[in-house]
Amino acid sequence: MNKDRKLIIAGNWKMNKTVGEALDLVNGLKRELANVKEIDLVVAPPFTALSEVSKAILDSNIRLGAQNMSEHNFGAYTGEICAAMLKEFSVRYVILGHSERRQFQQESSALIAKKALAAHAASLKPIVCIGELLEERKANQTERVLETQLRGSLAGLSTEQVEETIIAYEPVWAIGTGLTATAEQAQSAHAFIRQTLVGIVGEATAKRVRIQYGGSVKPNNVRELMSLPDVDGALVGGASLEVRSFSEIVKQSI
Ligand code: 13P
Repeated sequence: MNKDRKLIIAGNWKMNKTVGEALDLVNGLKRELANVKEIDLVVAPPFTALSEVSKAILDSNIRLGAQNMSEHNFGAYTGEICAAMLKEFSVRYVILGHSERRQFQQESSALIAKKALAAHAASLKPIVCIGELLEERKANQTERVLETQLRGSLAGLSTEQVEETIIAYEPVWAIGTGLTATAEQAQSAHAFIRQTLVGIVGEATAKRVRIQYGGSVKPNNVRELMSLPDVDGALVGGASLEVRSFSEIVKQSI
């Protein structure tokens, strides 16, 4: 597919896969996707599998992501992991503000902005997630919610940092439900996000920011989604847990 922005497809494994299972999965992906150059490929295993997966993908076209990190850098923060620790495993990307963390860990956009700043300070690329709830969509609040989350989660970032940030639009009602946004809904939300970025960092930079779609992305719907003008990749949950479905998603997007 011919777009100015290179597609980026990432697998968010969430709280799945023991180390052994993670290695099976990533070794299978390496085999299936070895020839893919047109798309940036990322897997985001749980923290416990980062070390082994990192070794397994050395010399491959697959890059490593983490699913979260602390806004702090070392210190008395029990249970937390900081950017410098992720860098030890050659992590390049970090998912921030996933709706599950916004919901279950009460993460606010202000906190996500702090994490994004800490990520950039360590040269990690944040994948900042935003998305509306079903009630908000039904109440015609989608754009208001997206704008508030986007502005809040990018607060304090420089133009250059925003350019190196990936935005993931994940309508919460489409996550893990088998319901996908229609092409019209996805394109309209992505275009709105890009327009909002124009207001934050100006048109030239906004045109370079990659915006992923996430929410029940599957091999049979990814092609249409990736063909949309403002959709620059996918953040895949359930379908990233099997070699066959994730590699098919990638192949369908080329
Ligand atoms: P599903 O693909 O399982 O709907 O999950 C999407 C998601 O939350 C990716 O971050």
